[in-house]
Amino acid sequence: MGYCMRGEGVRAFERCLSTTVPRQAQVPDTQIRQPGNSDVTEKQVDVKTIKAVFGDGTTSTYPHVWLRENCTCKSCFNSDAIARLFLIDDLCLDIRPNDAQVKGGNLHVEWSDGHLSTYTGKWLHERAFTPEARAKRRSRYMLSRHEEHDQVRSRKEGRKEKERKRPTFPIRANRPSLNRPVAHESDSKVRWGSGFQVPRLNFQSAMEEDQVLLDWLVQLEKFGVVLVEDAPTRVGTINDFIDTLGFIKSTHYGQDYEIINQITPNNLAYTGSKLGLHTDMPYYEYPPGTTWLHCIRQHEGKGGANVLSDGLNATELMKEIHPQHYATLVTTPIYFQDKGFQIYDFDKITKTTTIELDEQGKLKRLHTSSQSRDSIMDLTPEQILAFYSALKTFNNTLYEHSIEMKTKPGDILVLDNSRVMHSRTAFDPSTAKGPRHLHNAYIDWDELRSKRRVLQDKLGVSLT
Ligand SMILES: [Fe+2]
Ligand SMILES: [Zn+2]
Repeated sequence: MGYCMRGEGVRAFERCLSTTVPRQAQVPDTQIRQPGNSDVTEKQVDVKTIKAVFGDGTTSTYPHVWLRENCTCKSCFNSDAIARLFLIDDLCLDIRPNDAQVKGGNLHVEWSDGHLSTYTGKWLHERAFTPEARAKRRSRYMLSRHEEHDQVRSRKEGRKEKERKRPTFPIRANRPSLNRPVAHESDSKVRWGSGFQVPRLNFQSAMEEDQVLLDWLVQLEKFGVVLVEDAPTRVGTINDFIDTLGFIKSTHYGQDYEIINQITPNNLAYTGSKLGLHTDMPYYEYPPGTTWLHCIRQHEGKGGANVLSDGLNATELMKEIHPQHYATLVTTPIYFQDKGFQIYDFDKITKTTTIELDEQGKLKRLHTSSQSRDSIMDLTPEQILAFYSALKTFNNTLYEHSIEMKTKPGDILVLDNSRVMHSRTAFDPSTAKGPRHLHNAYIDWDELRSKRRVLQDKLGVSLT
């Protein structure tokens, strides 16, 4: 999408939002209504939306950005993994149809970026944004009573946030020393941006020396990322490490899992595709606290690197520079989903906001992933337009303040999954440069903070 500049697209989109009032669709009611018929029979293209009329007589309006992002073709959506391939990184907010046609009950669109999309009537009908359709879906997705509670809570939080005075944080990107005494370390989190040097420590020292392990736990809480170096390249090494800290967090992918390319992957991690900046498993009500990525073998060609960004830093920047978008991300609930088979059939769905705050209005957890954010949304078209504008701005902010690093065999990258976003650059596993092999596991913050306190008591170290 070379013509769409980051930031410029957002501004153009906002101008469009602020100056355009969508017309009411003028679709003649000339057809015979057939209950259960989800064929598209008519369409009306507006400035920011397409309105579809279905064979059962119902209608729904779909924002252009939503349609483009949720194109169902093979290059935009992986039906094996049931995950979006098209990333928010590549979405232009001012995308528009050059042409739209209704043929055979389906909607065909040629987009201004040159892409061609076909949406079946059934697919569109299942995702209708009318109040009736949204209410009907809730019983499958979440219990209605909880939905109402969530929406009231989100509105309250949004109001509180607007009223709250903005806190100020110094931005520091210094490489911390792992050798200095920790007696006077603050346990407050420290924001970082591009230029940040990830704290490193030696695997063996952390396994053998309590003081090094305590220092490492403090750095992880503070910066949200630590690189453990010189670990054995044996699958199971992170299990051994985590055993010294507490219990692994199991998920529907098991206690731990290996990330190697698969022919029919049930997760995009098992492909060579680019992954956008994301948190792991936002489709869990309680996502893993920390993500551990142990490099067993690294792809030796181009790509396969990690891009990391501090979500705490990006969230604070959003609050300072784009308060309206920040409020949207704090108050707009969206669905995440993951469905498939690993050890057993799974069908996970959560509904949450992108930015989740604690009772003090501080960042509690981020939830974002182009791969698993659901195309089904319990929002009005206007809310969807505002959401995309906010999410795109947040994504741009994350990348603008990110770092890139490529782990080597024996490295273990440990990330605070509630805060630090990670991604992977695309690589070609079929070349002579070889596949990429990572071993992945999770452990929750309950275990890590518990271990830190135990070590503090044991070593007589106060952090306050
Ligand atoms: Fe991930
Ligand atoms: Zn497509």
